[in-house]
Amino acid sequence: MIIKSAEFQCSNTRTDKLPPPVLPEYAFIGRSNVGKSSLINMLVQKKGLAKTSQTPGKTQLINHFLINENWHLVDLPGYGYAKTSRSNRADWQKFISFYLRNRENLQCVFVLIDSRLEPQKIDIEFCSWLGENGLPFQLIFTKADKQSRVKTDQAVAKFRKALLEIFEEVPQHYITSSETQDGREEILHFIQGLNST
Ligand code: GTP
Ligand code: MG
Repeated sequence: MIIKSAEFQCSNTRTDKLPPPVLPEYAFIGRSNVGKSSLINMLVQKKGLAKTSQTPGKTQLINHFLINENWHLVDLPGYGYAKTSRSNRADWQKFISFYLRNRENLQCVFVLIDSRLEPQKIDIEFCSWLGENGLPFQLIFTKADKQSRVKTDQAVAKFRKALLEIFEEVPQHYITSSETQDGREEILHFIQGLNST
């Protein structure tokens, strides 16, 4: 797919102020600092469109980006940020779970996993919650440029194995780097397929 345009549309803290649920929408979610905002910028090849930071917890709002004037990418705040308060975490859960369960135009959730880590309980639990709620998702392993391909493949295999303990089938995965643009074509191809159905 060719990206002709990518524009910031809006930031929201409340789900009742979101754009009307008309255009196909794809949400990016995962632990704080896993690389959600960087990946969005890499996919649309526009540095600085989604705000990134070395400090976890940068994205605090639901941010909508309008792509090619006919679909949305959505940057969500990260989960599992240790420094946030318990009430913040509860708010995050309420807000994001409401969004994910009720957004009728949401085509797919991309769950981002840091390819350098052992399977994290919080990621497994989140995937499990998506499954329980019947939400379609795909896995994206991030920051692949930071280690060898062998190590990344091992991490992917371990994560898939952990998911196989709770799912009969594990969704497709992508290995990505916002630095080298690995995985870009594959993800855009997948989105294009869903957009045209
Ligand atoms: P929050 O909004 O805080 O939840 O974080 P995020 O998941 O949006 O992460 P963000 O894109 O802001 O990236 C976090 C840090 O990781 C930044 O310093 C990025 O430059 C770095 N980073 C993200 N993706 C990659 C990647 O593929 N390779 C490398 N080397 N660094 C990356
Ligand atoms: Mg972010």
